[in-house]
Amino acid sequence: MKFRRVKPNDIWDILEISNDFIVRKFSINRRNITREEHKKWFGNIDKTLFFVIEVENKVVGQVRFSRKGGNIFEVSISIHPKYRSKGLGKLILLKGLKQLFLRYPKARILARVFINNQASINLFKKFNFRSIGFDKGMYIFLYRRN
Ligand SMILES: CC(C)(COP(=O)(O)OP(=O)(O)OC[C@H]1O[C@@H](n2cnc3c(N)ncnc32)[C@H](O)[C@@H]1OP(=O)(O)O)[C@@H](O)C(=O)NCCC(=O)NCCS
Repeated sequence: MKFRRVKPNDIWDILEISNDFIVRKFSINRRNITREEHKKWFGNIDKTLFFVIEVENKVVGQVRFSRKGGNIFEVSISIHPKYRSKGLGKLILLKGLKQLFLRYPKARILARVFINNQASINLFKKFNFRSIGFDKGMYIFLYRRN
């Protein structure tokens, strides 16, 4: 198992995770993503705070922090369906947060989670993300380091 920054070659492994049924179900845009759309998105996205977990040379999880202005970042996380509930979500979030705070010690992290996405709610609560609101069927969680 290896945690590392995303690389250009990871493009299709990332699409496979993103197009998983559960990932789409809990995303704002629920439609399947085409290869063309993904290519464009992946080519343009800021990869500074985009990390993956690799198992046997395959990318099986991703975490990304997108800057919303100032010290506010929004987190996006997903694990390949075959690799869920094995602790990889916790691991990639822990390591990702460490990298984020190394670069931005004052970072605050937002997570928007659909109210029926119990695995994610549990995950963020476990990391002491606090619920600060509710919008369009989603909880808004905020994390700040003490
Ligand atoms: C949310 C997600 C990233 C968690 O990753 P994971 O590798 O399955 O999670 P882990 O095995 O590390 O478990 C972390 C915690 O999540 C919770 N959890 C994981 N699977 C769960 C499940 N099936 N039901 C309820 N809670 C669950 C638990 O609290 C768990 O901690 P614990 O094992 O100490 O009790 C993964 O389920 C996923 O990719 N979901 C689809 C994408 C998604 O919803 N992303 C978040 C959008 S905001």
